[in-house]
Amino acid sequence: MAPRSKTTRLAAASPGSIAAAAACLRAGGLVAVPTETVYGLAADATSDAAVATIYAAKDRPAINPLIAHVLDLEAAREHAVFGPEAERLANAFWPGPLTLVLPVAPTCRISLLARAGLETVALRSPAHETARALIEAAGAPLAAPSANRSGRVSATTAAHVVADLDGRVDWILDGGPCRYGLESTIVEIIAGLPRLLRPGAITREAIESALGSPIESAVGSPAAPNAPGQLASHYAPNADLRLGAADARADEAALDFAGLLKESAAGARLDLSPAGDLIEAASHLFSYLRALDAGGAARIAVAPIPDYGLGAAINDRLRRAAAPRTG
Ligand code: TXA
Ligand code: MG
Repeated sequence: MAPRSKTTRLAAASPGSIAAAAACLRAGGLVAVPTETVYGLAADATSDAAVATIYAAKDRPAINPLIAHVLDLEAAREHAVFGPEAERLANAFWPGPLTLVLPVAPTCRISLLARAGLETVALRSPAHETARALIEAAGAPLAAPSANRSGRVSATTAAHVVADLDGRVDWILDGGPCRYGLESTIVEIIAGLPRLLRPGAITREAIESALGSPIESAVGSPAAPNAPGQLASHYAPNADLRLGAADARADEAALDFAGLLKESAAGARLDLSPAGDLIEAASHLFSYLRALDAGGAARIAVAPIPDYGLGAAINDRLRRAAAPRTG
């Protein structure tokens, strides 16, 4: 599916352009914004619908979890649980090119889609003044992957963003070349155990010296973001999934798309997008799976989803959710 063609406005970052771009974000739009690492492709992180358009604009083959950008540690605490190790790293490196992957807090407002259904959330407080001004003006955390088409390298100038995303985003704020040009370092901290998921703009040595202890490396391991196709901790419902179903049987709940599933059973039924819109379908995927799961069905019949555009990403997630559990 080709994302709907947008008129992309390119503007030097200024109070005026930032205010206009922030208004666009509040209305569910997409804004490319410079950070000190690479340009980010930002949307309101609290909106499944807005986040879905990020995946569509990037042609992302898989729905990978995204980093939510916040102003500071105070703002971050609403979304994640900070233990002593996370506090120490945030105090040492924020604002700056460090992303922390932490357990979600009960008050977390980051959309399930941005989290790819995980019980962890990636948070970063960027240092770049344009990114900070945009977060503040939008009044929301901003989900932002690197502002490049999938399979291309990250964009470090506004010209790179134009080359990849012209016609796919609403605004491109030009803040000149990025200072680091390399993505943030990602550290996951679960149950007090810090692990390096992605090397980046902050060195491992600097992290270890802030922590006062060596850090385990999970780079290249199945859970590392470098191998997102193999994320071990992807969302898996309790119910078994039956993909590509033509109808829902008596003992099954139904996850429909575009009304394709034949009416049969009286079980719970949700349609990802009655109109057959893949962007809308992606935005509902994780929340609908959870809702059907919560109903207690042993199995969920899933309608066939077209395997192009965001449909490919949806199918990627569904296949993993349907895969036999390895414990
Ligand atoms: O410097 C950066 O980090 C840039 C700027 C824009 O902030 N962003 C960036 O985003 O590089 P992206 O989407 O290209 O990379 C984010 C990485 C992905 O590899 C993803 O798998 C990982 O973060 N990630 C996000 N949430 C995660 C989670 N809950 N658990 C494990 N990995 C996660
Ligand atoms: Mg990237």
